[in-house]
Amino acid sequence: MNTCHQPTEAGLDSFRIAKITFARPDDWHVHVRDGSLLKALLPHTARQFGRAIIMPNLKPPVITTAQAESYRQRILDARPTQGPGTTFEPLMTLYLTDNTSSDEILRAHKSGFVYGVKLYPAGTTTNSDAGVTDIRHCTAALEAMQQTNLPLLVHGEVMDPLIDVFDREEVFIDRVLEPLRRDFPGLRVVFEHITTRSAIAYVRDADAAPGMLGATITAHHLLLNRNAMLVGGIQPHYYCLPVFKREAHRVALVEAAISGHPRFFLGTDSAPHPKNLKENQCGCAGCYTALNALELYAQVFEEAGALNRLEGFASFFGPDFYGLPRSTDTVTLERSSWTLPEDIEASGVNVVVFKISKALSWKLC
Ligand code: NCD
Ligand code: ZN
Repeated sequence: MNTCHQPTEAGLDSFRIAKITFARPDDWHVHVRDGSLLKALLPHTARQFGRAIIMPNLKPPVITTAQAESYRQRILDARPTQGPGTTFEPLMTLYLTDNTSSDEILRAHKSGFVYGVKLYPAGTTTNSDAGVTDIRHCTAALEAMQQTNLPLLVHGEVMDPLIDVFDREEVFIDRVLEPLRRDFPGLRVVFEHITTRSAIAYVRDADAAPGMLGATITAHHLLLNRNAMLVGGIQPHYYCLPVFKREAHRVALVEAAISGHPRFFLGTDSAPHPKNLKENQCGCAGCYTALNALELYAQVFEEAGALNRLEGFASFFGPDFYGLPRSTDTVTLERSSWTLPEDIEASGVNVVVFKISKALSWKLC
């Protein structure tokens, strides 16, 4: 990471970093949707990130390699035609169902463009109805993934009406994740968008070789706790899944992200929904962070006094896990106080941009 300094208001002998340049990051978990929303919003992701793991929870979901191939083409067609986003590379995933065959996994592996298979326990989140009702139905697919080294990306929550929504991640570890890793010791797993101390401890302390276990952490879970969603009136734009947790969990997430531990890496889980579907009697889950994701992460690392750890988290540990080369391209952030924009209009649909109440300190050049 290259830095350059500027004098602060405190005087010439006191210096603050004015610019940071580091390897271009990748987003290891993002929803870029389809159709006109894809066309309007993809440039936001593409101008910041070199690559991104593309979530498959479209309607209908991306369950075959053939579907992933045509979705990939639609994403490539939506890339900006000028500037840094022109070379953005979508890394595709398949949506695991009770019926995913081992042949489909082999096809995905051979394709060269599928980098993971996503487990949505049925009913846990947006467009997860076609997800897995019982992981025991997936034995053949999981064995094939184990053989071909294709990682399983897990939405780590149980769907059980008796389990409180704030506890669903913790229960998932005991009921699903730990038995799964015991039964498939060669299966590579990413615990997506972790939100609790239990998930952090599980990932950090697990007995796993490099490249076998990782976890993504979102910017919004690093920045906010559940009060943001529930205090002073209900705030539908802060409703996402997994739902925000207590402050102690947020603090632990920041510690994990800045720790330099290679199992924790960047995944925005940016998930745009039309404004009217969030401000609704039954509002959709998802925060739209892709517009300014990198600046949001930089804010967290700066406030934690750990800007020097941002590059590992954002640009190194993800490709290392996926066995891909680290980026040789760079991005530069400059110190600048600015506030996040209001809603954006994307092809006639309003999307509310994720905001925090204070000014941000870093801006992408
Ligand atoms: C995601 C979406 O809208 O697709 N929503 C969310 O709250 N994160 C789905 C998901 O990742 O759970
Ligand atoms: Zn997601």
